Amino acid sequence: MDDARQRAEEKETCPRCRLSRHQGVDALRTNSDVIEEIKSRIDIVDVVSRVVDLKKAGRNYKGLCPFHNEKTPSFVVSEEKQIFTCFGCGKTGDVIEFEKEYHGIDFMTAVEKLADECGVKITRRGGSEKERAALLEINRQAARFFYINMRSRPNPGMEYMRRRGLNQETMHAFGIGYADGSWDSLLKYLKQRGFEEEQMLQLGLVSKSRGSYYDKFRDRVIFPIRSTQNKVIGFGGRAIGDAMPKYLNSSESSIFKKKSNLYDLSLAKNAIGSQDCAILVEGYMDVIALHQSGIENAAASLGTALTEQQAALLKRYTKNVVLCYDADAAGQAAALRGMDILHRAGIKVRVMHVTDGKDPDEFIKKRGRAAFDALVDAALPFAEYKLKVLQTRFDLGETEGRIGFLEEAARVLNQLSPVEADIYIKKLSADYGISEQALHAQQEIRKSTPRTGRVRRGRTQQQSGLKPPEKSVLKVLMTDAAYLEQEPGIEKVFTSPAGVRIYQAIAAMHREGVPVTAVTCAERLSEEDAQMLRDALDGVLLGSVDQVLSDCLAAAEESRLREEEEKIIARLSLADEDDNDEEINRLTRRLMEVQKELTTLKAR
Ligand code: UTP
Ligand code: MN
Repeated sequence: MDDARQRAEEKETCPRCRLSRHQGVDALRTNSDVIEEIKSRIDIVDVVSRVVDLKKAGRNYKGLCPFHNEKTPSFVVSEEKQIFTCFGCGKTGDVIEFEKEYHGIDFMTAVEKLADECGVKITRRGGSEKERAALLEINRQAARFFYINMRSRPNPGMEYMRRRGLNQETMHAFGIGYADGSWDSLLKYLKQRGFEEEQMLQLGLVSKSRGSYYDKFRDRVIFPIRSTQNKVIGFGGRAIGDAMPKYLNSSESSIFKKKSNLYDLSLAKNAIGSQDCAILVEGYMDVIALHQSGIENAAASLGTALTEQQAALLKRYTKNVVLCYDADAAGQAAALRGMDILHRAGIKVRVMHVTDGKDPDEFIKKRGRAAFDALVDAALPFAEYKLKVLQTRFDLGETEGRIGFLEEAARVLNQLSPVEADIYIKKLSADYGISEQALHAQQEIRKSTPRTGRVRRGRTQQQSGLKPPEKSVLKVLMTDAAYLEQEPGIEKVFTSPAGVRIYQAIAAMHREGVPVTAVTCAERLSEEDAQMLRDALDGVLLGSVDQVLSDCLAAAEESRLREEEEKIIARLSLADEDDNDEEINRLTRRLMEVQKELTTLKAR
């Protein structure tokens, strides 16, 4: 920026916040500038006090932690440092982190929300409004082109949609079109209307090869994907019949973000609002088939796992969501992940399964609307569904199985409000003959250590002997003890008493050049440890050696960090009692580092 322009802009500065009023400057700002600016305008104490009752305590504010259940306040907000820290559960961060965690939204959404509140303008990386409008116009024209193609003459797309039972009205409502088999009909159509090839390429309407452009969607049924403002932001193109790939989608662009849109919310949002309930399905065709049967409150994520952004988007219209994913294993796994995301976003989520056919589309065609409605009504709430799934994973006739079930069930209970948790404790107790007291106790343990992946202590530890990562690594070492040299960190995986003893025996034998096998090892171990080793070697290795080793090392690193995290939290609460600000600062910084490392570790 030249000096003259800079001076001119400085004159246009807002007297209150000392920021330039010149809008163009926003485009030049980097993301971190925007974040700093938001933080400078917003006081974390204001933001937190909207949802937490804060009382002044010394230089800080204190209240009941919104992230875990507690009766005495250990949640501290520092006005001076603009951070929050809970001495109970260890959550800590700045105002953006608070918004993120409290509302269950992602980082960018939190930034946007706060920016909006304090009047900071964010210019999306997508470029200017003008450019956006131009891209939307291209998509609108393309959608028109496909639609006219579908309607003006007989074509395989229409025939295929009819065969799948769609009527004209439905096809019109979704704007379903057809891309013909030629390589350049859309390209020509858009060029005639003065659009640039580069823009078409940006939108993924055309592809480029050796300097020339050609239509990406050929001989496909086209589903326009619309934003909630009813703008065409992208397309899904389904192959006719069994051709592969089944779907081609517009590429991600400044106007099309798969992760933050749902199909077809523009059409479904009114029904979702008025029924105060949304049905989430997996496929375009599911949404369309349900709509044709009169179920208008269905939407689908766009071929990706459900995201936080999508949950936040849905939540604008309703807080009740029924997940209805495909009947196959992939669909069920996706449902389990999806329900966690929705639950964390503060949505009441239930899960249903179609009982006939592979997906909602097939089901509704075979069985009709009333049968589908009945399944929606019978959908299981979050906790009930999760407990039901858990129940199938453990053998409840065995003590080990019951312990495992109890531990996992406590994790589920911990995701609930105290009132709900109580209800399920009573229910579990009645269903499985586990005492309410045991469930409460188990839940207390989990509550103080809310995250997964921790090292278990006490009775369970001793009973179960070796931990799963220890067992896996032992399997690897028995195939070839030379892995000890390849992966120097292996030692860290062994943390249980028996694990350490077995590891030491193996390491010694390897050093001495003695062949390492279950039999030779047994000679150096106690009868009990030898038996544990033999049990560990039972069964196959789940994954390649490299994969297993890297997973186990990561798990070991995670436990180490968790333990450090716990220690810091304990020390923090002592420092808090002493009002030792310096120590609190130091510990808080270290805690943030540890938590960051944990996040990166998980993201790998
Ligand atoms: P499905 O295969 O269940 O699609 O994939 P569908 O919509 O039910 O289609 P039909 O009934 O087989 O014709 C679910 C969703 O995953 C995305 C699409 O969004 C699809 O609707 N998907 C699937 C792709 O993006 N690409 C693919 O190749 C397959
Ligand atoms: Mn399907």
